[in-house]
Amino acid sequence: MQTIFSGVQPSGTPTIGNYIGAIQNFVNLQDEYDCYYCIVDLHAITVPQDRLKLREQIRSLAALYFAAGIDADKSTTFIQSEVSAHAEAAWLVQCNVSVGELERMTQYKDKSSKQEMISAGLLTYPPLMVADIILYNAHLVPVGEDQKQHLELTRDFVERFNNRFGQGNDLLVLPDPYIPSKQSGGRIMSLNDPYSKMSKSAKSPKSYISMLDDPSSIQKKIRSAVTDSGQGISYDSDKRPAIANLLTIFSAFSSKSIDELVDKYRDAGNAQFKDDLADTIIATLEPLQKRYYELLNSEELDNYLDQGADKARRTADKTLNKMKNAVGLGRKRRK
Ligand code: TYM
Repeated sequence: MQTIFSGVQPSGTPTIGNYIGAIQNFVNLQDEYDCYYCIVDLHAITVPQDRLKLREQIRSLAALYFAAGIDADKSTTFIQSEVSAHAEAAWLVQCNVSVGELERMTQYKDKSSKQEMISAGLLTYPPLMVADIILYNAHLVPVGEDQKQHLELTRDFVERFNNRFGQGNDLLVLPDPYIPSKQSGGRIMSLNDPYSKMSKSAKSPKSYISMLDDPSSIQKKIRSAVTDSGQGISYDSDKRPAIANLLTIFSAFSSKSIDELVDKYRDAGNAQFKDDLADTIIATLEPLQKRYYELLNSEELDNYLDQGADKARRTADKTLNKMKNAVGLGRKRRK
């Protein structure tokens, strides 16, 4: 069985963009792969966080993973900072990537331009992500399109590390990205502006739907979502990007393809289309939220996360030791 690794940052409540681009696929892939799903809290502190809020968000994200359908018995689900191998392996990665490579990352350029104090961690964030992936020997990494460049860096690193230290063996597994096409939700756009990505850290809450929004906010936000000029509903991501984005969201929350939806709503007005879309999102999120609130303060949640961290540690420590050994760290043991 091949292995999957992926993670979400606990830097706010996930949006339906995170859900469609990543979490929904985590759930769909767990029967066919040996999966590791992580709450990447070490990544979240690369920018300032309120410590009490962060702690809440970590637990909340864990509850959301399970409420969305991740099964703790099938998928190893854990908190990154509870498995110390991540920070250690990240150091070994940092020593084998160049500052130039890191400065070229578009997310670094984007995020650093918004910070008063640019932490060194913001620059070395991609090596931590590389470490996450390689520690579990992941073959496949389900992510949204915005993570593509980080996955390319991971592949470059693995090839370099294997060449430098592998002595003819593939020490580390070369992972493939699993990124849905734009039409299938690899890049869900803002409800206010179909040219920018939907983001959980956006200033305007109207630009996104969070996985914990209540039905009336979902209705309001969908009703006020921008649309394009022209009559009826059609899919054209260049000329009608806002409607195309709503169709992508609709398709992800229903069992219908975009073609089927266009057939159904071709002559409908925007209002009717939006009301049905809002109902469809609510039909998925309402039961998910019910399960979320049950889990949030339960012991069950802690048990799942303890069990996940134990298993993750075992796998991660093995790879970390292999890496340390390969680069010549530590003592040579007497036989
Ligand atoms: P994060 O927390 O920003 O986002 C979590 C996942 O959601 C995807 N995503 C989207 N997909 C579609 N449309 C959108 N508008 C949208 N916004 C976000 C992201 O691509 C991501 O898959 N660096 C990562 C977390 C991470 C990670 C890893 C992922 C750390 N280590 C190892 C995979 C493997 C991040 O910041 O994701």
